Amino acid sequence: MELFDQLQETVTFIKQHTAFEPKTGIVLGTGLGNLTSEIQVTTRFRYQDLPHFPTSTVDSHQGELILGMLNNHPVVVMAGRFHYYEGYSMQQVTFPIRVMKYLGVEQVFLSNAAGGIHPEFEAGDIALVKDHINLQPSNPLTGSNDERIGPRFPDLLHTYDLSLRSKALTFAKANNIRLHEGVYVCIPGPNLETPAEYRYMNIIGGDLVGMSTVPEVIVARHMDLQVLVLSVVTNKCFPIEELSETTLEGVIEVAALAEPKMTAIIKHLLVKS
Ligand code: HPA
Repeated sequence: MELFDQLQETVTFIKQHTAFEPKTGIVLGTGLGNLTSEIQVTTRFRYQDLPHFPTSTVDSHQGELILGMLNNHPVVVMAGRFHYYEGYSMQQVTFPIRVMKYLGVEQVFLSNAAGGIHPEFEAGDIALVKDHINLQPSNPLTGSNDERIGPRFPDLLHTYDLSLRSKALTFAKANNIRLHEGVYVCIPGPNLETPAEYRYMNIIGGDLVGMSTVPEVIVARHMDLQVLVLSVVTNKCFPIEELSETTLEGVIEVAALAEPKMTAIIKHLLVKS
């Protein structure tokens, strides 16, 4: 079945269950699922119940699509995302973003846990992604292009929305939240990087590194959605003298501690946006 028809089926299924019309899509990354507790939920779907949705294989992710109000704004939230390292195709990884678009969303806010490869980024800091370098071996737009969905060669010049970023920076400053801006390097994972790789990523202009988000961003821009990405720095990776072993438990712990700052920014951006 063509992607376009799959999307119609999934969206039709959701609309059979709810008339709710979300305007913003939110994707919650590793250890960043607590925001869901602040949603006035209208409807929630387990991924396994949604047609054409892959099912989540990572324990630290919840695996639910939640529709409801956050700060008086209609949102659709992915609690748990799909990663390339789980074995999904890039089309599967990005399918939910396309569903959000066809549910009527105009902008997406994506979060993730990331390694910090800027020397001044410390564990627990948060950063807006202002650009990316894609080092994943596959692209979600590979294959024949459906012009009903988006253009063959989407431009990525204005990928990370400037007005959303400046609004976030102003809010962070006024509220004493340390908020960086940086370039996110996307790698396939699932292994963490070697010291030489972290150093390489710093040299090529990276400030953050992670295993997600960029495929979703590419697909969002393919469909002309506005994009905001917030990374939580869960481990310091540069300079390499300051490297220590990274564990999933450590990543989740630091992400959870930093999450309230991220949630505050997201809620602020939803006001009149
Ligand atoms: N590398 C890749 N992905 C990550 C890291 C890292 O150091 N930390 C959190 N996600």
